[in-house]
Amino acid sequence: MIHTGNVNNEATDSQERTEQSPETYRGSRLLEAAQTEPGSPLVGILGTGDFSRSLARRLVASGHQVVVGSRNPKRSAALFPDEAEVWLEAASQADIVFVALFPEHYSSLVELKQVLGGRVLVDVSNGLCLNQDGPSNAEQLADMFPESHVVKGFNTISAWALQSGPRDGSRQVFLCSDSSVAKASVSQLCRRMGFIPIDMGPLSASLEIENMPLYLFPSWKLPVLLSFALFIFFYLYNFIRDVLHPYVTSGKSAFYKMPIELVNVTLPCVALVMLTLVYVPGLCAAFLQLWWGTKYKRFPDFLDKWLIQRKQFGLCSFLCAALHMIYSLCLPMRKSARFTMLNQDSWVSEDVWRMELYVSVGIMAIGLLSLLAVTSLPSVANTVNWREFSFIQSSLGHCALFMATLHTCLFGWTRAFDAKQYHFYLPPTFLLVVIPPVSVLIFRSLLFLPCVALKLRKIRRGWEKTRHIRFTLPDEDCRNGLEDVSHV
Ligand SMILES: Cc1cc2nc3c(=O)[nH]c(=O)nc-3n(C[C@H](O)[C@H](O)[C@H](O)COP(=O)(O)OP(=O)(O)OC[C@H]3O[C@@H](n4cnc5c(N)ncnc54)[C@H](O)[C@@H]3O)c2cc1C
Ligand SMILES: NC(=O)c1ccc[n+]([C@@H]2O[C@H](COP(=O)([O-])OP(=O)(O)OC[C@H]3O[C@@H](n4cnc5c(N)ncnc54)[C@H](OP(=O)(O)O)[C@@H]3O)[C@@H](O)[C@H]2O)c1
Ligand code: HEM
Repeated sequence: MIHTGNVNNEATDSQERTEQSPETYRGSRLLEAAQTEPGSPLVGILGTGDFSRSLARRLVASGHQVVVGSRNPKRSAALFPDEAEVWLEAASQADIVFVALFPEHYSSLVELKQVLGGRVLVDVSNGLCLNQDGPSNAEQLADMFPESHVVKGFNTISAWALQSGPRDGSRQVFLCSDSSVAKASVSQLCRRMGFIPIDMGPLSASLEIENMPLYLFPSWKLPVLLSFALFIFFYLYNFIRDVLHPYVTSGKSAFYKMPIELVNVTLPCVALVMLTLVYVPGLCAAFLQLWWGTKYKRFPDFLDKWLIQRKQFGLCSFLCAALHMIYSLCLPMRKSARFTMLNQDSWVSEDVWRMELYVSVGIMAIGLLSLLAVTSLPSVANTVNWREFSFIQSSLGHCALFMATLHTCLFGWTRAFDAKQYHFYLPPTFLLVVIPPVSVLIFRSLLFLPCVALKLRKIRRGWEKTRHIRFTLPDEDCRNGLEDVSHV
């Protein structure tokens, strides 16, 4: 970057600058905000790319004066708001200077070392790929400019979010620096722009902040992969039973079932297994706590991770159940379904009842799951307290699991005991998938037994088997959310 010239020889206020010949500041436009609001803080930005332009707009909109440093001010000036000034020596004017360049171009700023000494440099860069070892871009910038105070931040905010103003999802700005004074002034600037500064500590946290925008749904990896694996397994299983079996045994072609019917028996199986997996870790946690007689022993790592990813497991289950519902509603629309209907004795009382029941219970299950899904939105979760959230997620969640299991049992009806259902000796999927949720519901109901529930409640309030201290539970009325969970 060619930010040349000795700052001390340059004009330092707008008055002096206007007196210079137009040649000196070719391409620069004077700051109108500076003339109308002389007291408003001056902020510098180096670089004139997407981020710089959006940042300049946001800063101007929040009442700041902005000077932008560019290698080619003439070319870039037209891209900035009229109030922002684009010129060569921007850095010399402001106490806070944003470095809106890619890190590979930081070395082009070395000529400005003296000018930038004592100023706060805000490093907004992201890494190219996930960097595990460091040093971070901000640490490299700090090494390059030991006289300046480097603050890492704003990299998690996109140029788009800056331009459109702080909205729900992107209000938080993670900041870190070795200089608490520099961090405090950037935090203040942040607040004035309508963002929420989050102090992440010293500059050594910059690597973590730089990595933040590079993660690709880290907590979704396992639930999504597992959903895919289950889908493939159940699809193949049903293909063998419902398509290959009639073809091999009686030469009947049922390949038309592959796009809709097979998918519609596969999706609910995935939904039910994933929903069961949401409630297994809570159960394991409870039984481990009972077994150990304390809540202060750490769970195994896998259980910790599983507990944290239940939301993602639940939402994967919800997606599959919602798709299953839509597929189910489309079933009668198909030509094959209408053909089968015309060629069948249509009224079998038992079948009619079975269907009325399982569809009705299925609708209730999807209704409850929708409630859980809506509550998992941060904007909704923020409007309920912990106890309400726990009631919806835990109590109503178990009701949803119960309804979905009942729906499957009603769908299966007595056909589980019909030998004709065991194609190639393979049991039907409704039988396979109903075993895990039934087991979870049975074990869960064991936690309601008064002796178990009381012990668990004591443990969750800090009682330990190995410490013989007198321990009394508070009255029924002053329970907190945690105990409520054990009462589910
Ligand atoms: C559509 C859908 C959306 C969902 N959205 C969310 C969501 O937004 N947020 C969410 O959290 N879950 C969500 N879930 C998952 C699930 O509903 C909740 O996690 C629910 O609270 C689990 O209930 P539980 O009774 O099994 O476990 P819990 O209510 O967690 O209780 C089990 C006990 O385990 C112990 N425990 C739990 N977690 C830990 C831990 N990390 N470390 C130590 N001990 C622990 C505690 O002692 C607790 O009392 C969602 C599920 C679905 C189906
Ligand atoms: N875009 C976003 O949404 C976003 C979000 C978060 C963080 N960031 C970070 O912000 C920084 C800038 O991103 P950007 O999207 O604004 O990039 P950009 O549009 O490419 O702009 C970078 C600017 O750097 C200057 N530059 C280009 N080549 C240079 C060179 N060889 N030597 C010196 N300077 C050079 C140019 O300004 P001049 O020609 O005027 O000198 C250019 O406008 C990056 O570190 C990025 O990681 C961007
Ligand atoms: C509006 C809601 C729902 C409707 C209308 C509905 C409808 C149906 C229908 C029509 C079938 C029979 C599929 C076929 O024979 O091709 C079925 C089966 C099934 N449904 Fe649902 N369902 C709903 C919700 C759910 C939910 C929420 C779950 C679980 C989370 C679920 C799990 C199952 C299972 C496991 C089967 C058995 C699949 C098999 O192995 O054959 N359903 N449902």
